[in-house]
Amino acid sequence: MELQGTVAIVTGAARGIGRATAVALAQAGARGVAIVDLKEPELAETAELVRGAGAEALPLVADVGSLGALRAMIAEVDATFGRIDVLHNNAGLGEGPPDWPDIAPERTAAIVDINLRGVVLGTQLALPVMKRGGGGAIVHTASGAAYTPVPPQAVYAGTKAGIVQFTKSCIPLHESHGVRVNCVCPGLVETDMVHESGDGDVADWLRPMYDSVELLRPEDIADAVLALVRDDTRVGEALSVDNPG
Ligand SMILES: NC(=O)c1ccc[n+]([C@@H]2O[C@H](COP(=O)([O-])OP(=O)(O)OC[C@H]3O[C@@H](n4cnc5c(N)ncnc54)[C@H](O)[C@@H]3O)[C@@H](O)[C@H]2O)c1
Repeated sequence: MELQGTVAIVTGAARGIGRATAVALAQAGARGVAIVDLKEPELAETAELVRGAGAEALPLVADVGSLGALRAMIAEVDATFGRIDVLHNNAGLGEGPPDWPDIAPERTAAIVDINLRGVVLGTQLALPVMKRGGGGAIVHTASGAAYTPVPPQAVYAGTKAGIVQFTKSCIPLHESHGVRVNCVCPGLVETDMVHESGDGDVADWLRPMYDSVELLRPEDIADAVLALVRDDTRVGEALSVDNPG
């Protein structure tokens, strides 16, 4: 897919991987980038970065765990830009602190709602608009935790494994809707999420890995997302982006 002139949505775009992807899409020639998050001030900063990279930014404060908010998001992007070519379902939430199974059940529900339900419903609601415009590409942010058991983050790991199977089961959408669905599975990326995993910083269970691997940058994941979007041969792929070394 040629990115010049396209319209994209990136969820969880106030910071981290989502911000990096939104900026990368603008740099690659997207004409409109809808950026979705709950963190309003940081979202405004991302909007400035997207505009600085040459695209129109549409900041939307919305909870991707809510069906109503997702419906409103798709409707507003369609009303503003008239099409959707790219959707990056990226917003995500992890357990700690405290870890599984000591977290509040409300947080458990939020992790499932944001990480899995939001990805599934976002995909479903975007499909008709993408099909009407001739198709497009959807990339979810899964995780290496989809494959490696992570007992302190059992809910998170379960949702990420769900994303991988959802991605593979969406392969026929390429033929029926012209929409290619793929996902990225990052290793450990230097973002705020990692530093919020413990009591004030990196969680104790994550610390040995954090201290021993070469951390990925959000831009490394944005590169992988754009590679999946651009390459029309890639469908139903779970692309691992591992820590070097
Ligand atoms: N950082 C890592 O090591 C790592 C590794 C693998 C996968 N991931 C995944 O990458 C994605 C991005 O994470 P990140 O590392 O950039 O973390 P981050 O916490 O910096 O960014 C996540 C963003 O999602 C937003 N968000 C959370 N709940 C939301 C909701 N209900 N509605 C809208 N936005 C919401 C947050 O406000 C935040 O801005 C997540 O899905 C995460 O699970 C991260």
